Amino acid sequence: MSDAPTNPNKALWEKGDFTRIAESMRESGETLIEDLGISEGQTVLDLGCGDGTTALPAARRGANVLGVDIASNLVAAGNRRAESEGLSNCRFQEGDASDLNALADDSFDVVVSIFGAMFAPKPFDVAKEMVRVTRPSGTVVMGNWIPNDPTLVAQILRISSAYSPPPPEGFISPMTWGVEDNVIERFAGAGVPEEKIAFERDTYTFRCPGAPAELLARFRTYYGPTMNAFEAAAAHGREADLQAELEALFNAQNASQSDDATSIPATFLRVTVAV
Ligand SMILES: C[S@@+](CC[C@H](N)C(=O)[O-])C[C@H]1O[C@@H](n2cnc3c(N)ncnc32)[C@H](O)[C@@H]1O
Repeated sequence: MSDAPTNPNKALWEKGDFTRIAESMRESGETLIEDLGISEGQTVLDLGCGDGTTALPAARRGANVLGVDIASNLVAAGNRRAESEGLSNCRFQEGDASDLNALADDSFDVVVSIFGAMFAPKPFDVAKEMVRVTRPSGTVVMGNWIPNDPTLVAQILRISSAYSPPPPEGFISPMTWGVEDNVIERFAGAGVPEEKIAFERDTYTFRCPGAPAELLARFRTYYGPTMNAFEAAAAHGREADLQAELEALFNAQNASQSDDATSIPATFLRVTVAV
C-alpha cells in the first residue's frame, strides 16, 4: 500500500521543495522578526513555518521557538537548519494550522504565521486555533498575500489560475486572508473584537543571484502551486504561454539594477492581533 499523503493541502506543500524559494526570502524574514522585537525568553510559535525563515531569526534573538508545518520535508529541513546553527531553542514538528491538537491552550507569547496559516483550509478553525494557543495578552501576527495586488505573488497566483482547473466546490481561496473584512470576521469567530486587530501594508523582497528567469525557474521546479499550474498548462499544450506570461511578470517586477541579481518586492497584509 502506498503511503502517499491523501491530504491535498499537505501534498501540495510536500511537492517540490519550498526551501529553494525560501532561500530568496531570508532577509525579509529577518527584518520582520527584528521589527516585531522578538526577545530573549519569549515563547514563539511559527505556524506554517516552512524551513524556518522566521523561526530561526526569532531563535537567534533568544526566543524559545516551535515551528509547526504540515509538510514533513519542510519540518525536517527546519530541524536540520536549527541543528546546524546549534539553536537548541528552536525545533520543528508536523501539525495542521486548522487543528493544533498537539499544542496546549495559552502556550505562546507570540504566534507568527507568514504566508503560512493562510494556506490551511477551514480559516475560521485556523483563527480559533491561533487564538487558543496564544496566552492572554499575547500577540498573533499574520502575513497574508493580497488578492488582486499588482505585485509578484498575487500576480503569479492570478496568472496560474487561468491555466488551472477550477478549484473543488467549497474551496476557500487562501487569498481571502488578504481581505481585512474576512480577517475581522474570522477572528471575531475566535472571540477577538475588531478593535484588537491592526492592519498595515508591508513588503517582502525576493532576492536571488542571477536573472529574474532564474527565480522563475525555481518557482517552476520547486514551488508546488506553480508546478501544478505548469502541469495543468502542459495538459493543454500551453506550457510555453504560461512561461512567457510569468517571465514577463518577473522581468517587469525586478527592481535590481544589476544583471546578475534579482530583487522583487511584494506587498502583503500584515495583521496584528492583540489576544
Ligand atoms: C508559502 S510557504 C511559507 C513558509 C514560511 N512561513 C516562510 O515564510 O518561508 C507556506 C507554508 O505553509 C505551510 N502550510 C500549508 N498549509 C498548512 C497547514 N494546514 N498547516 C500548517 N502549515 C501549512 C506549507 O507547508 C508551507 O511551508
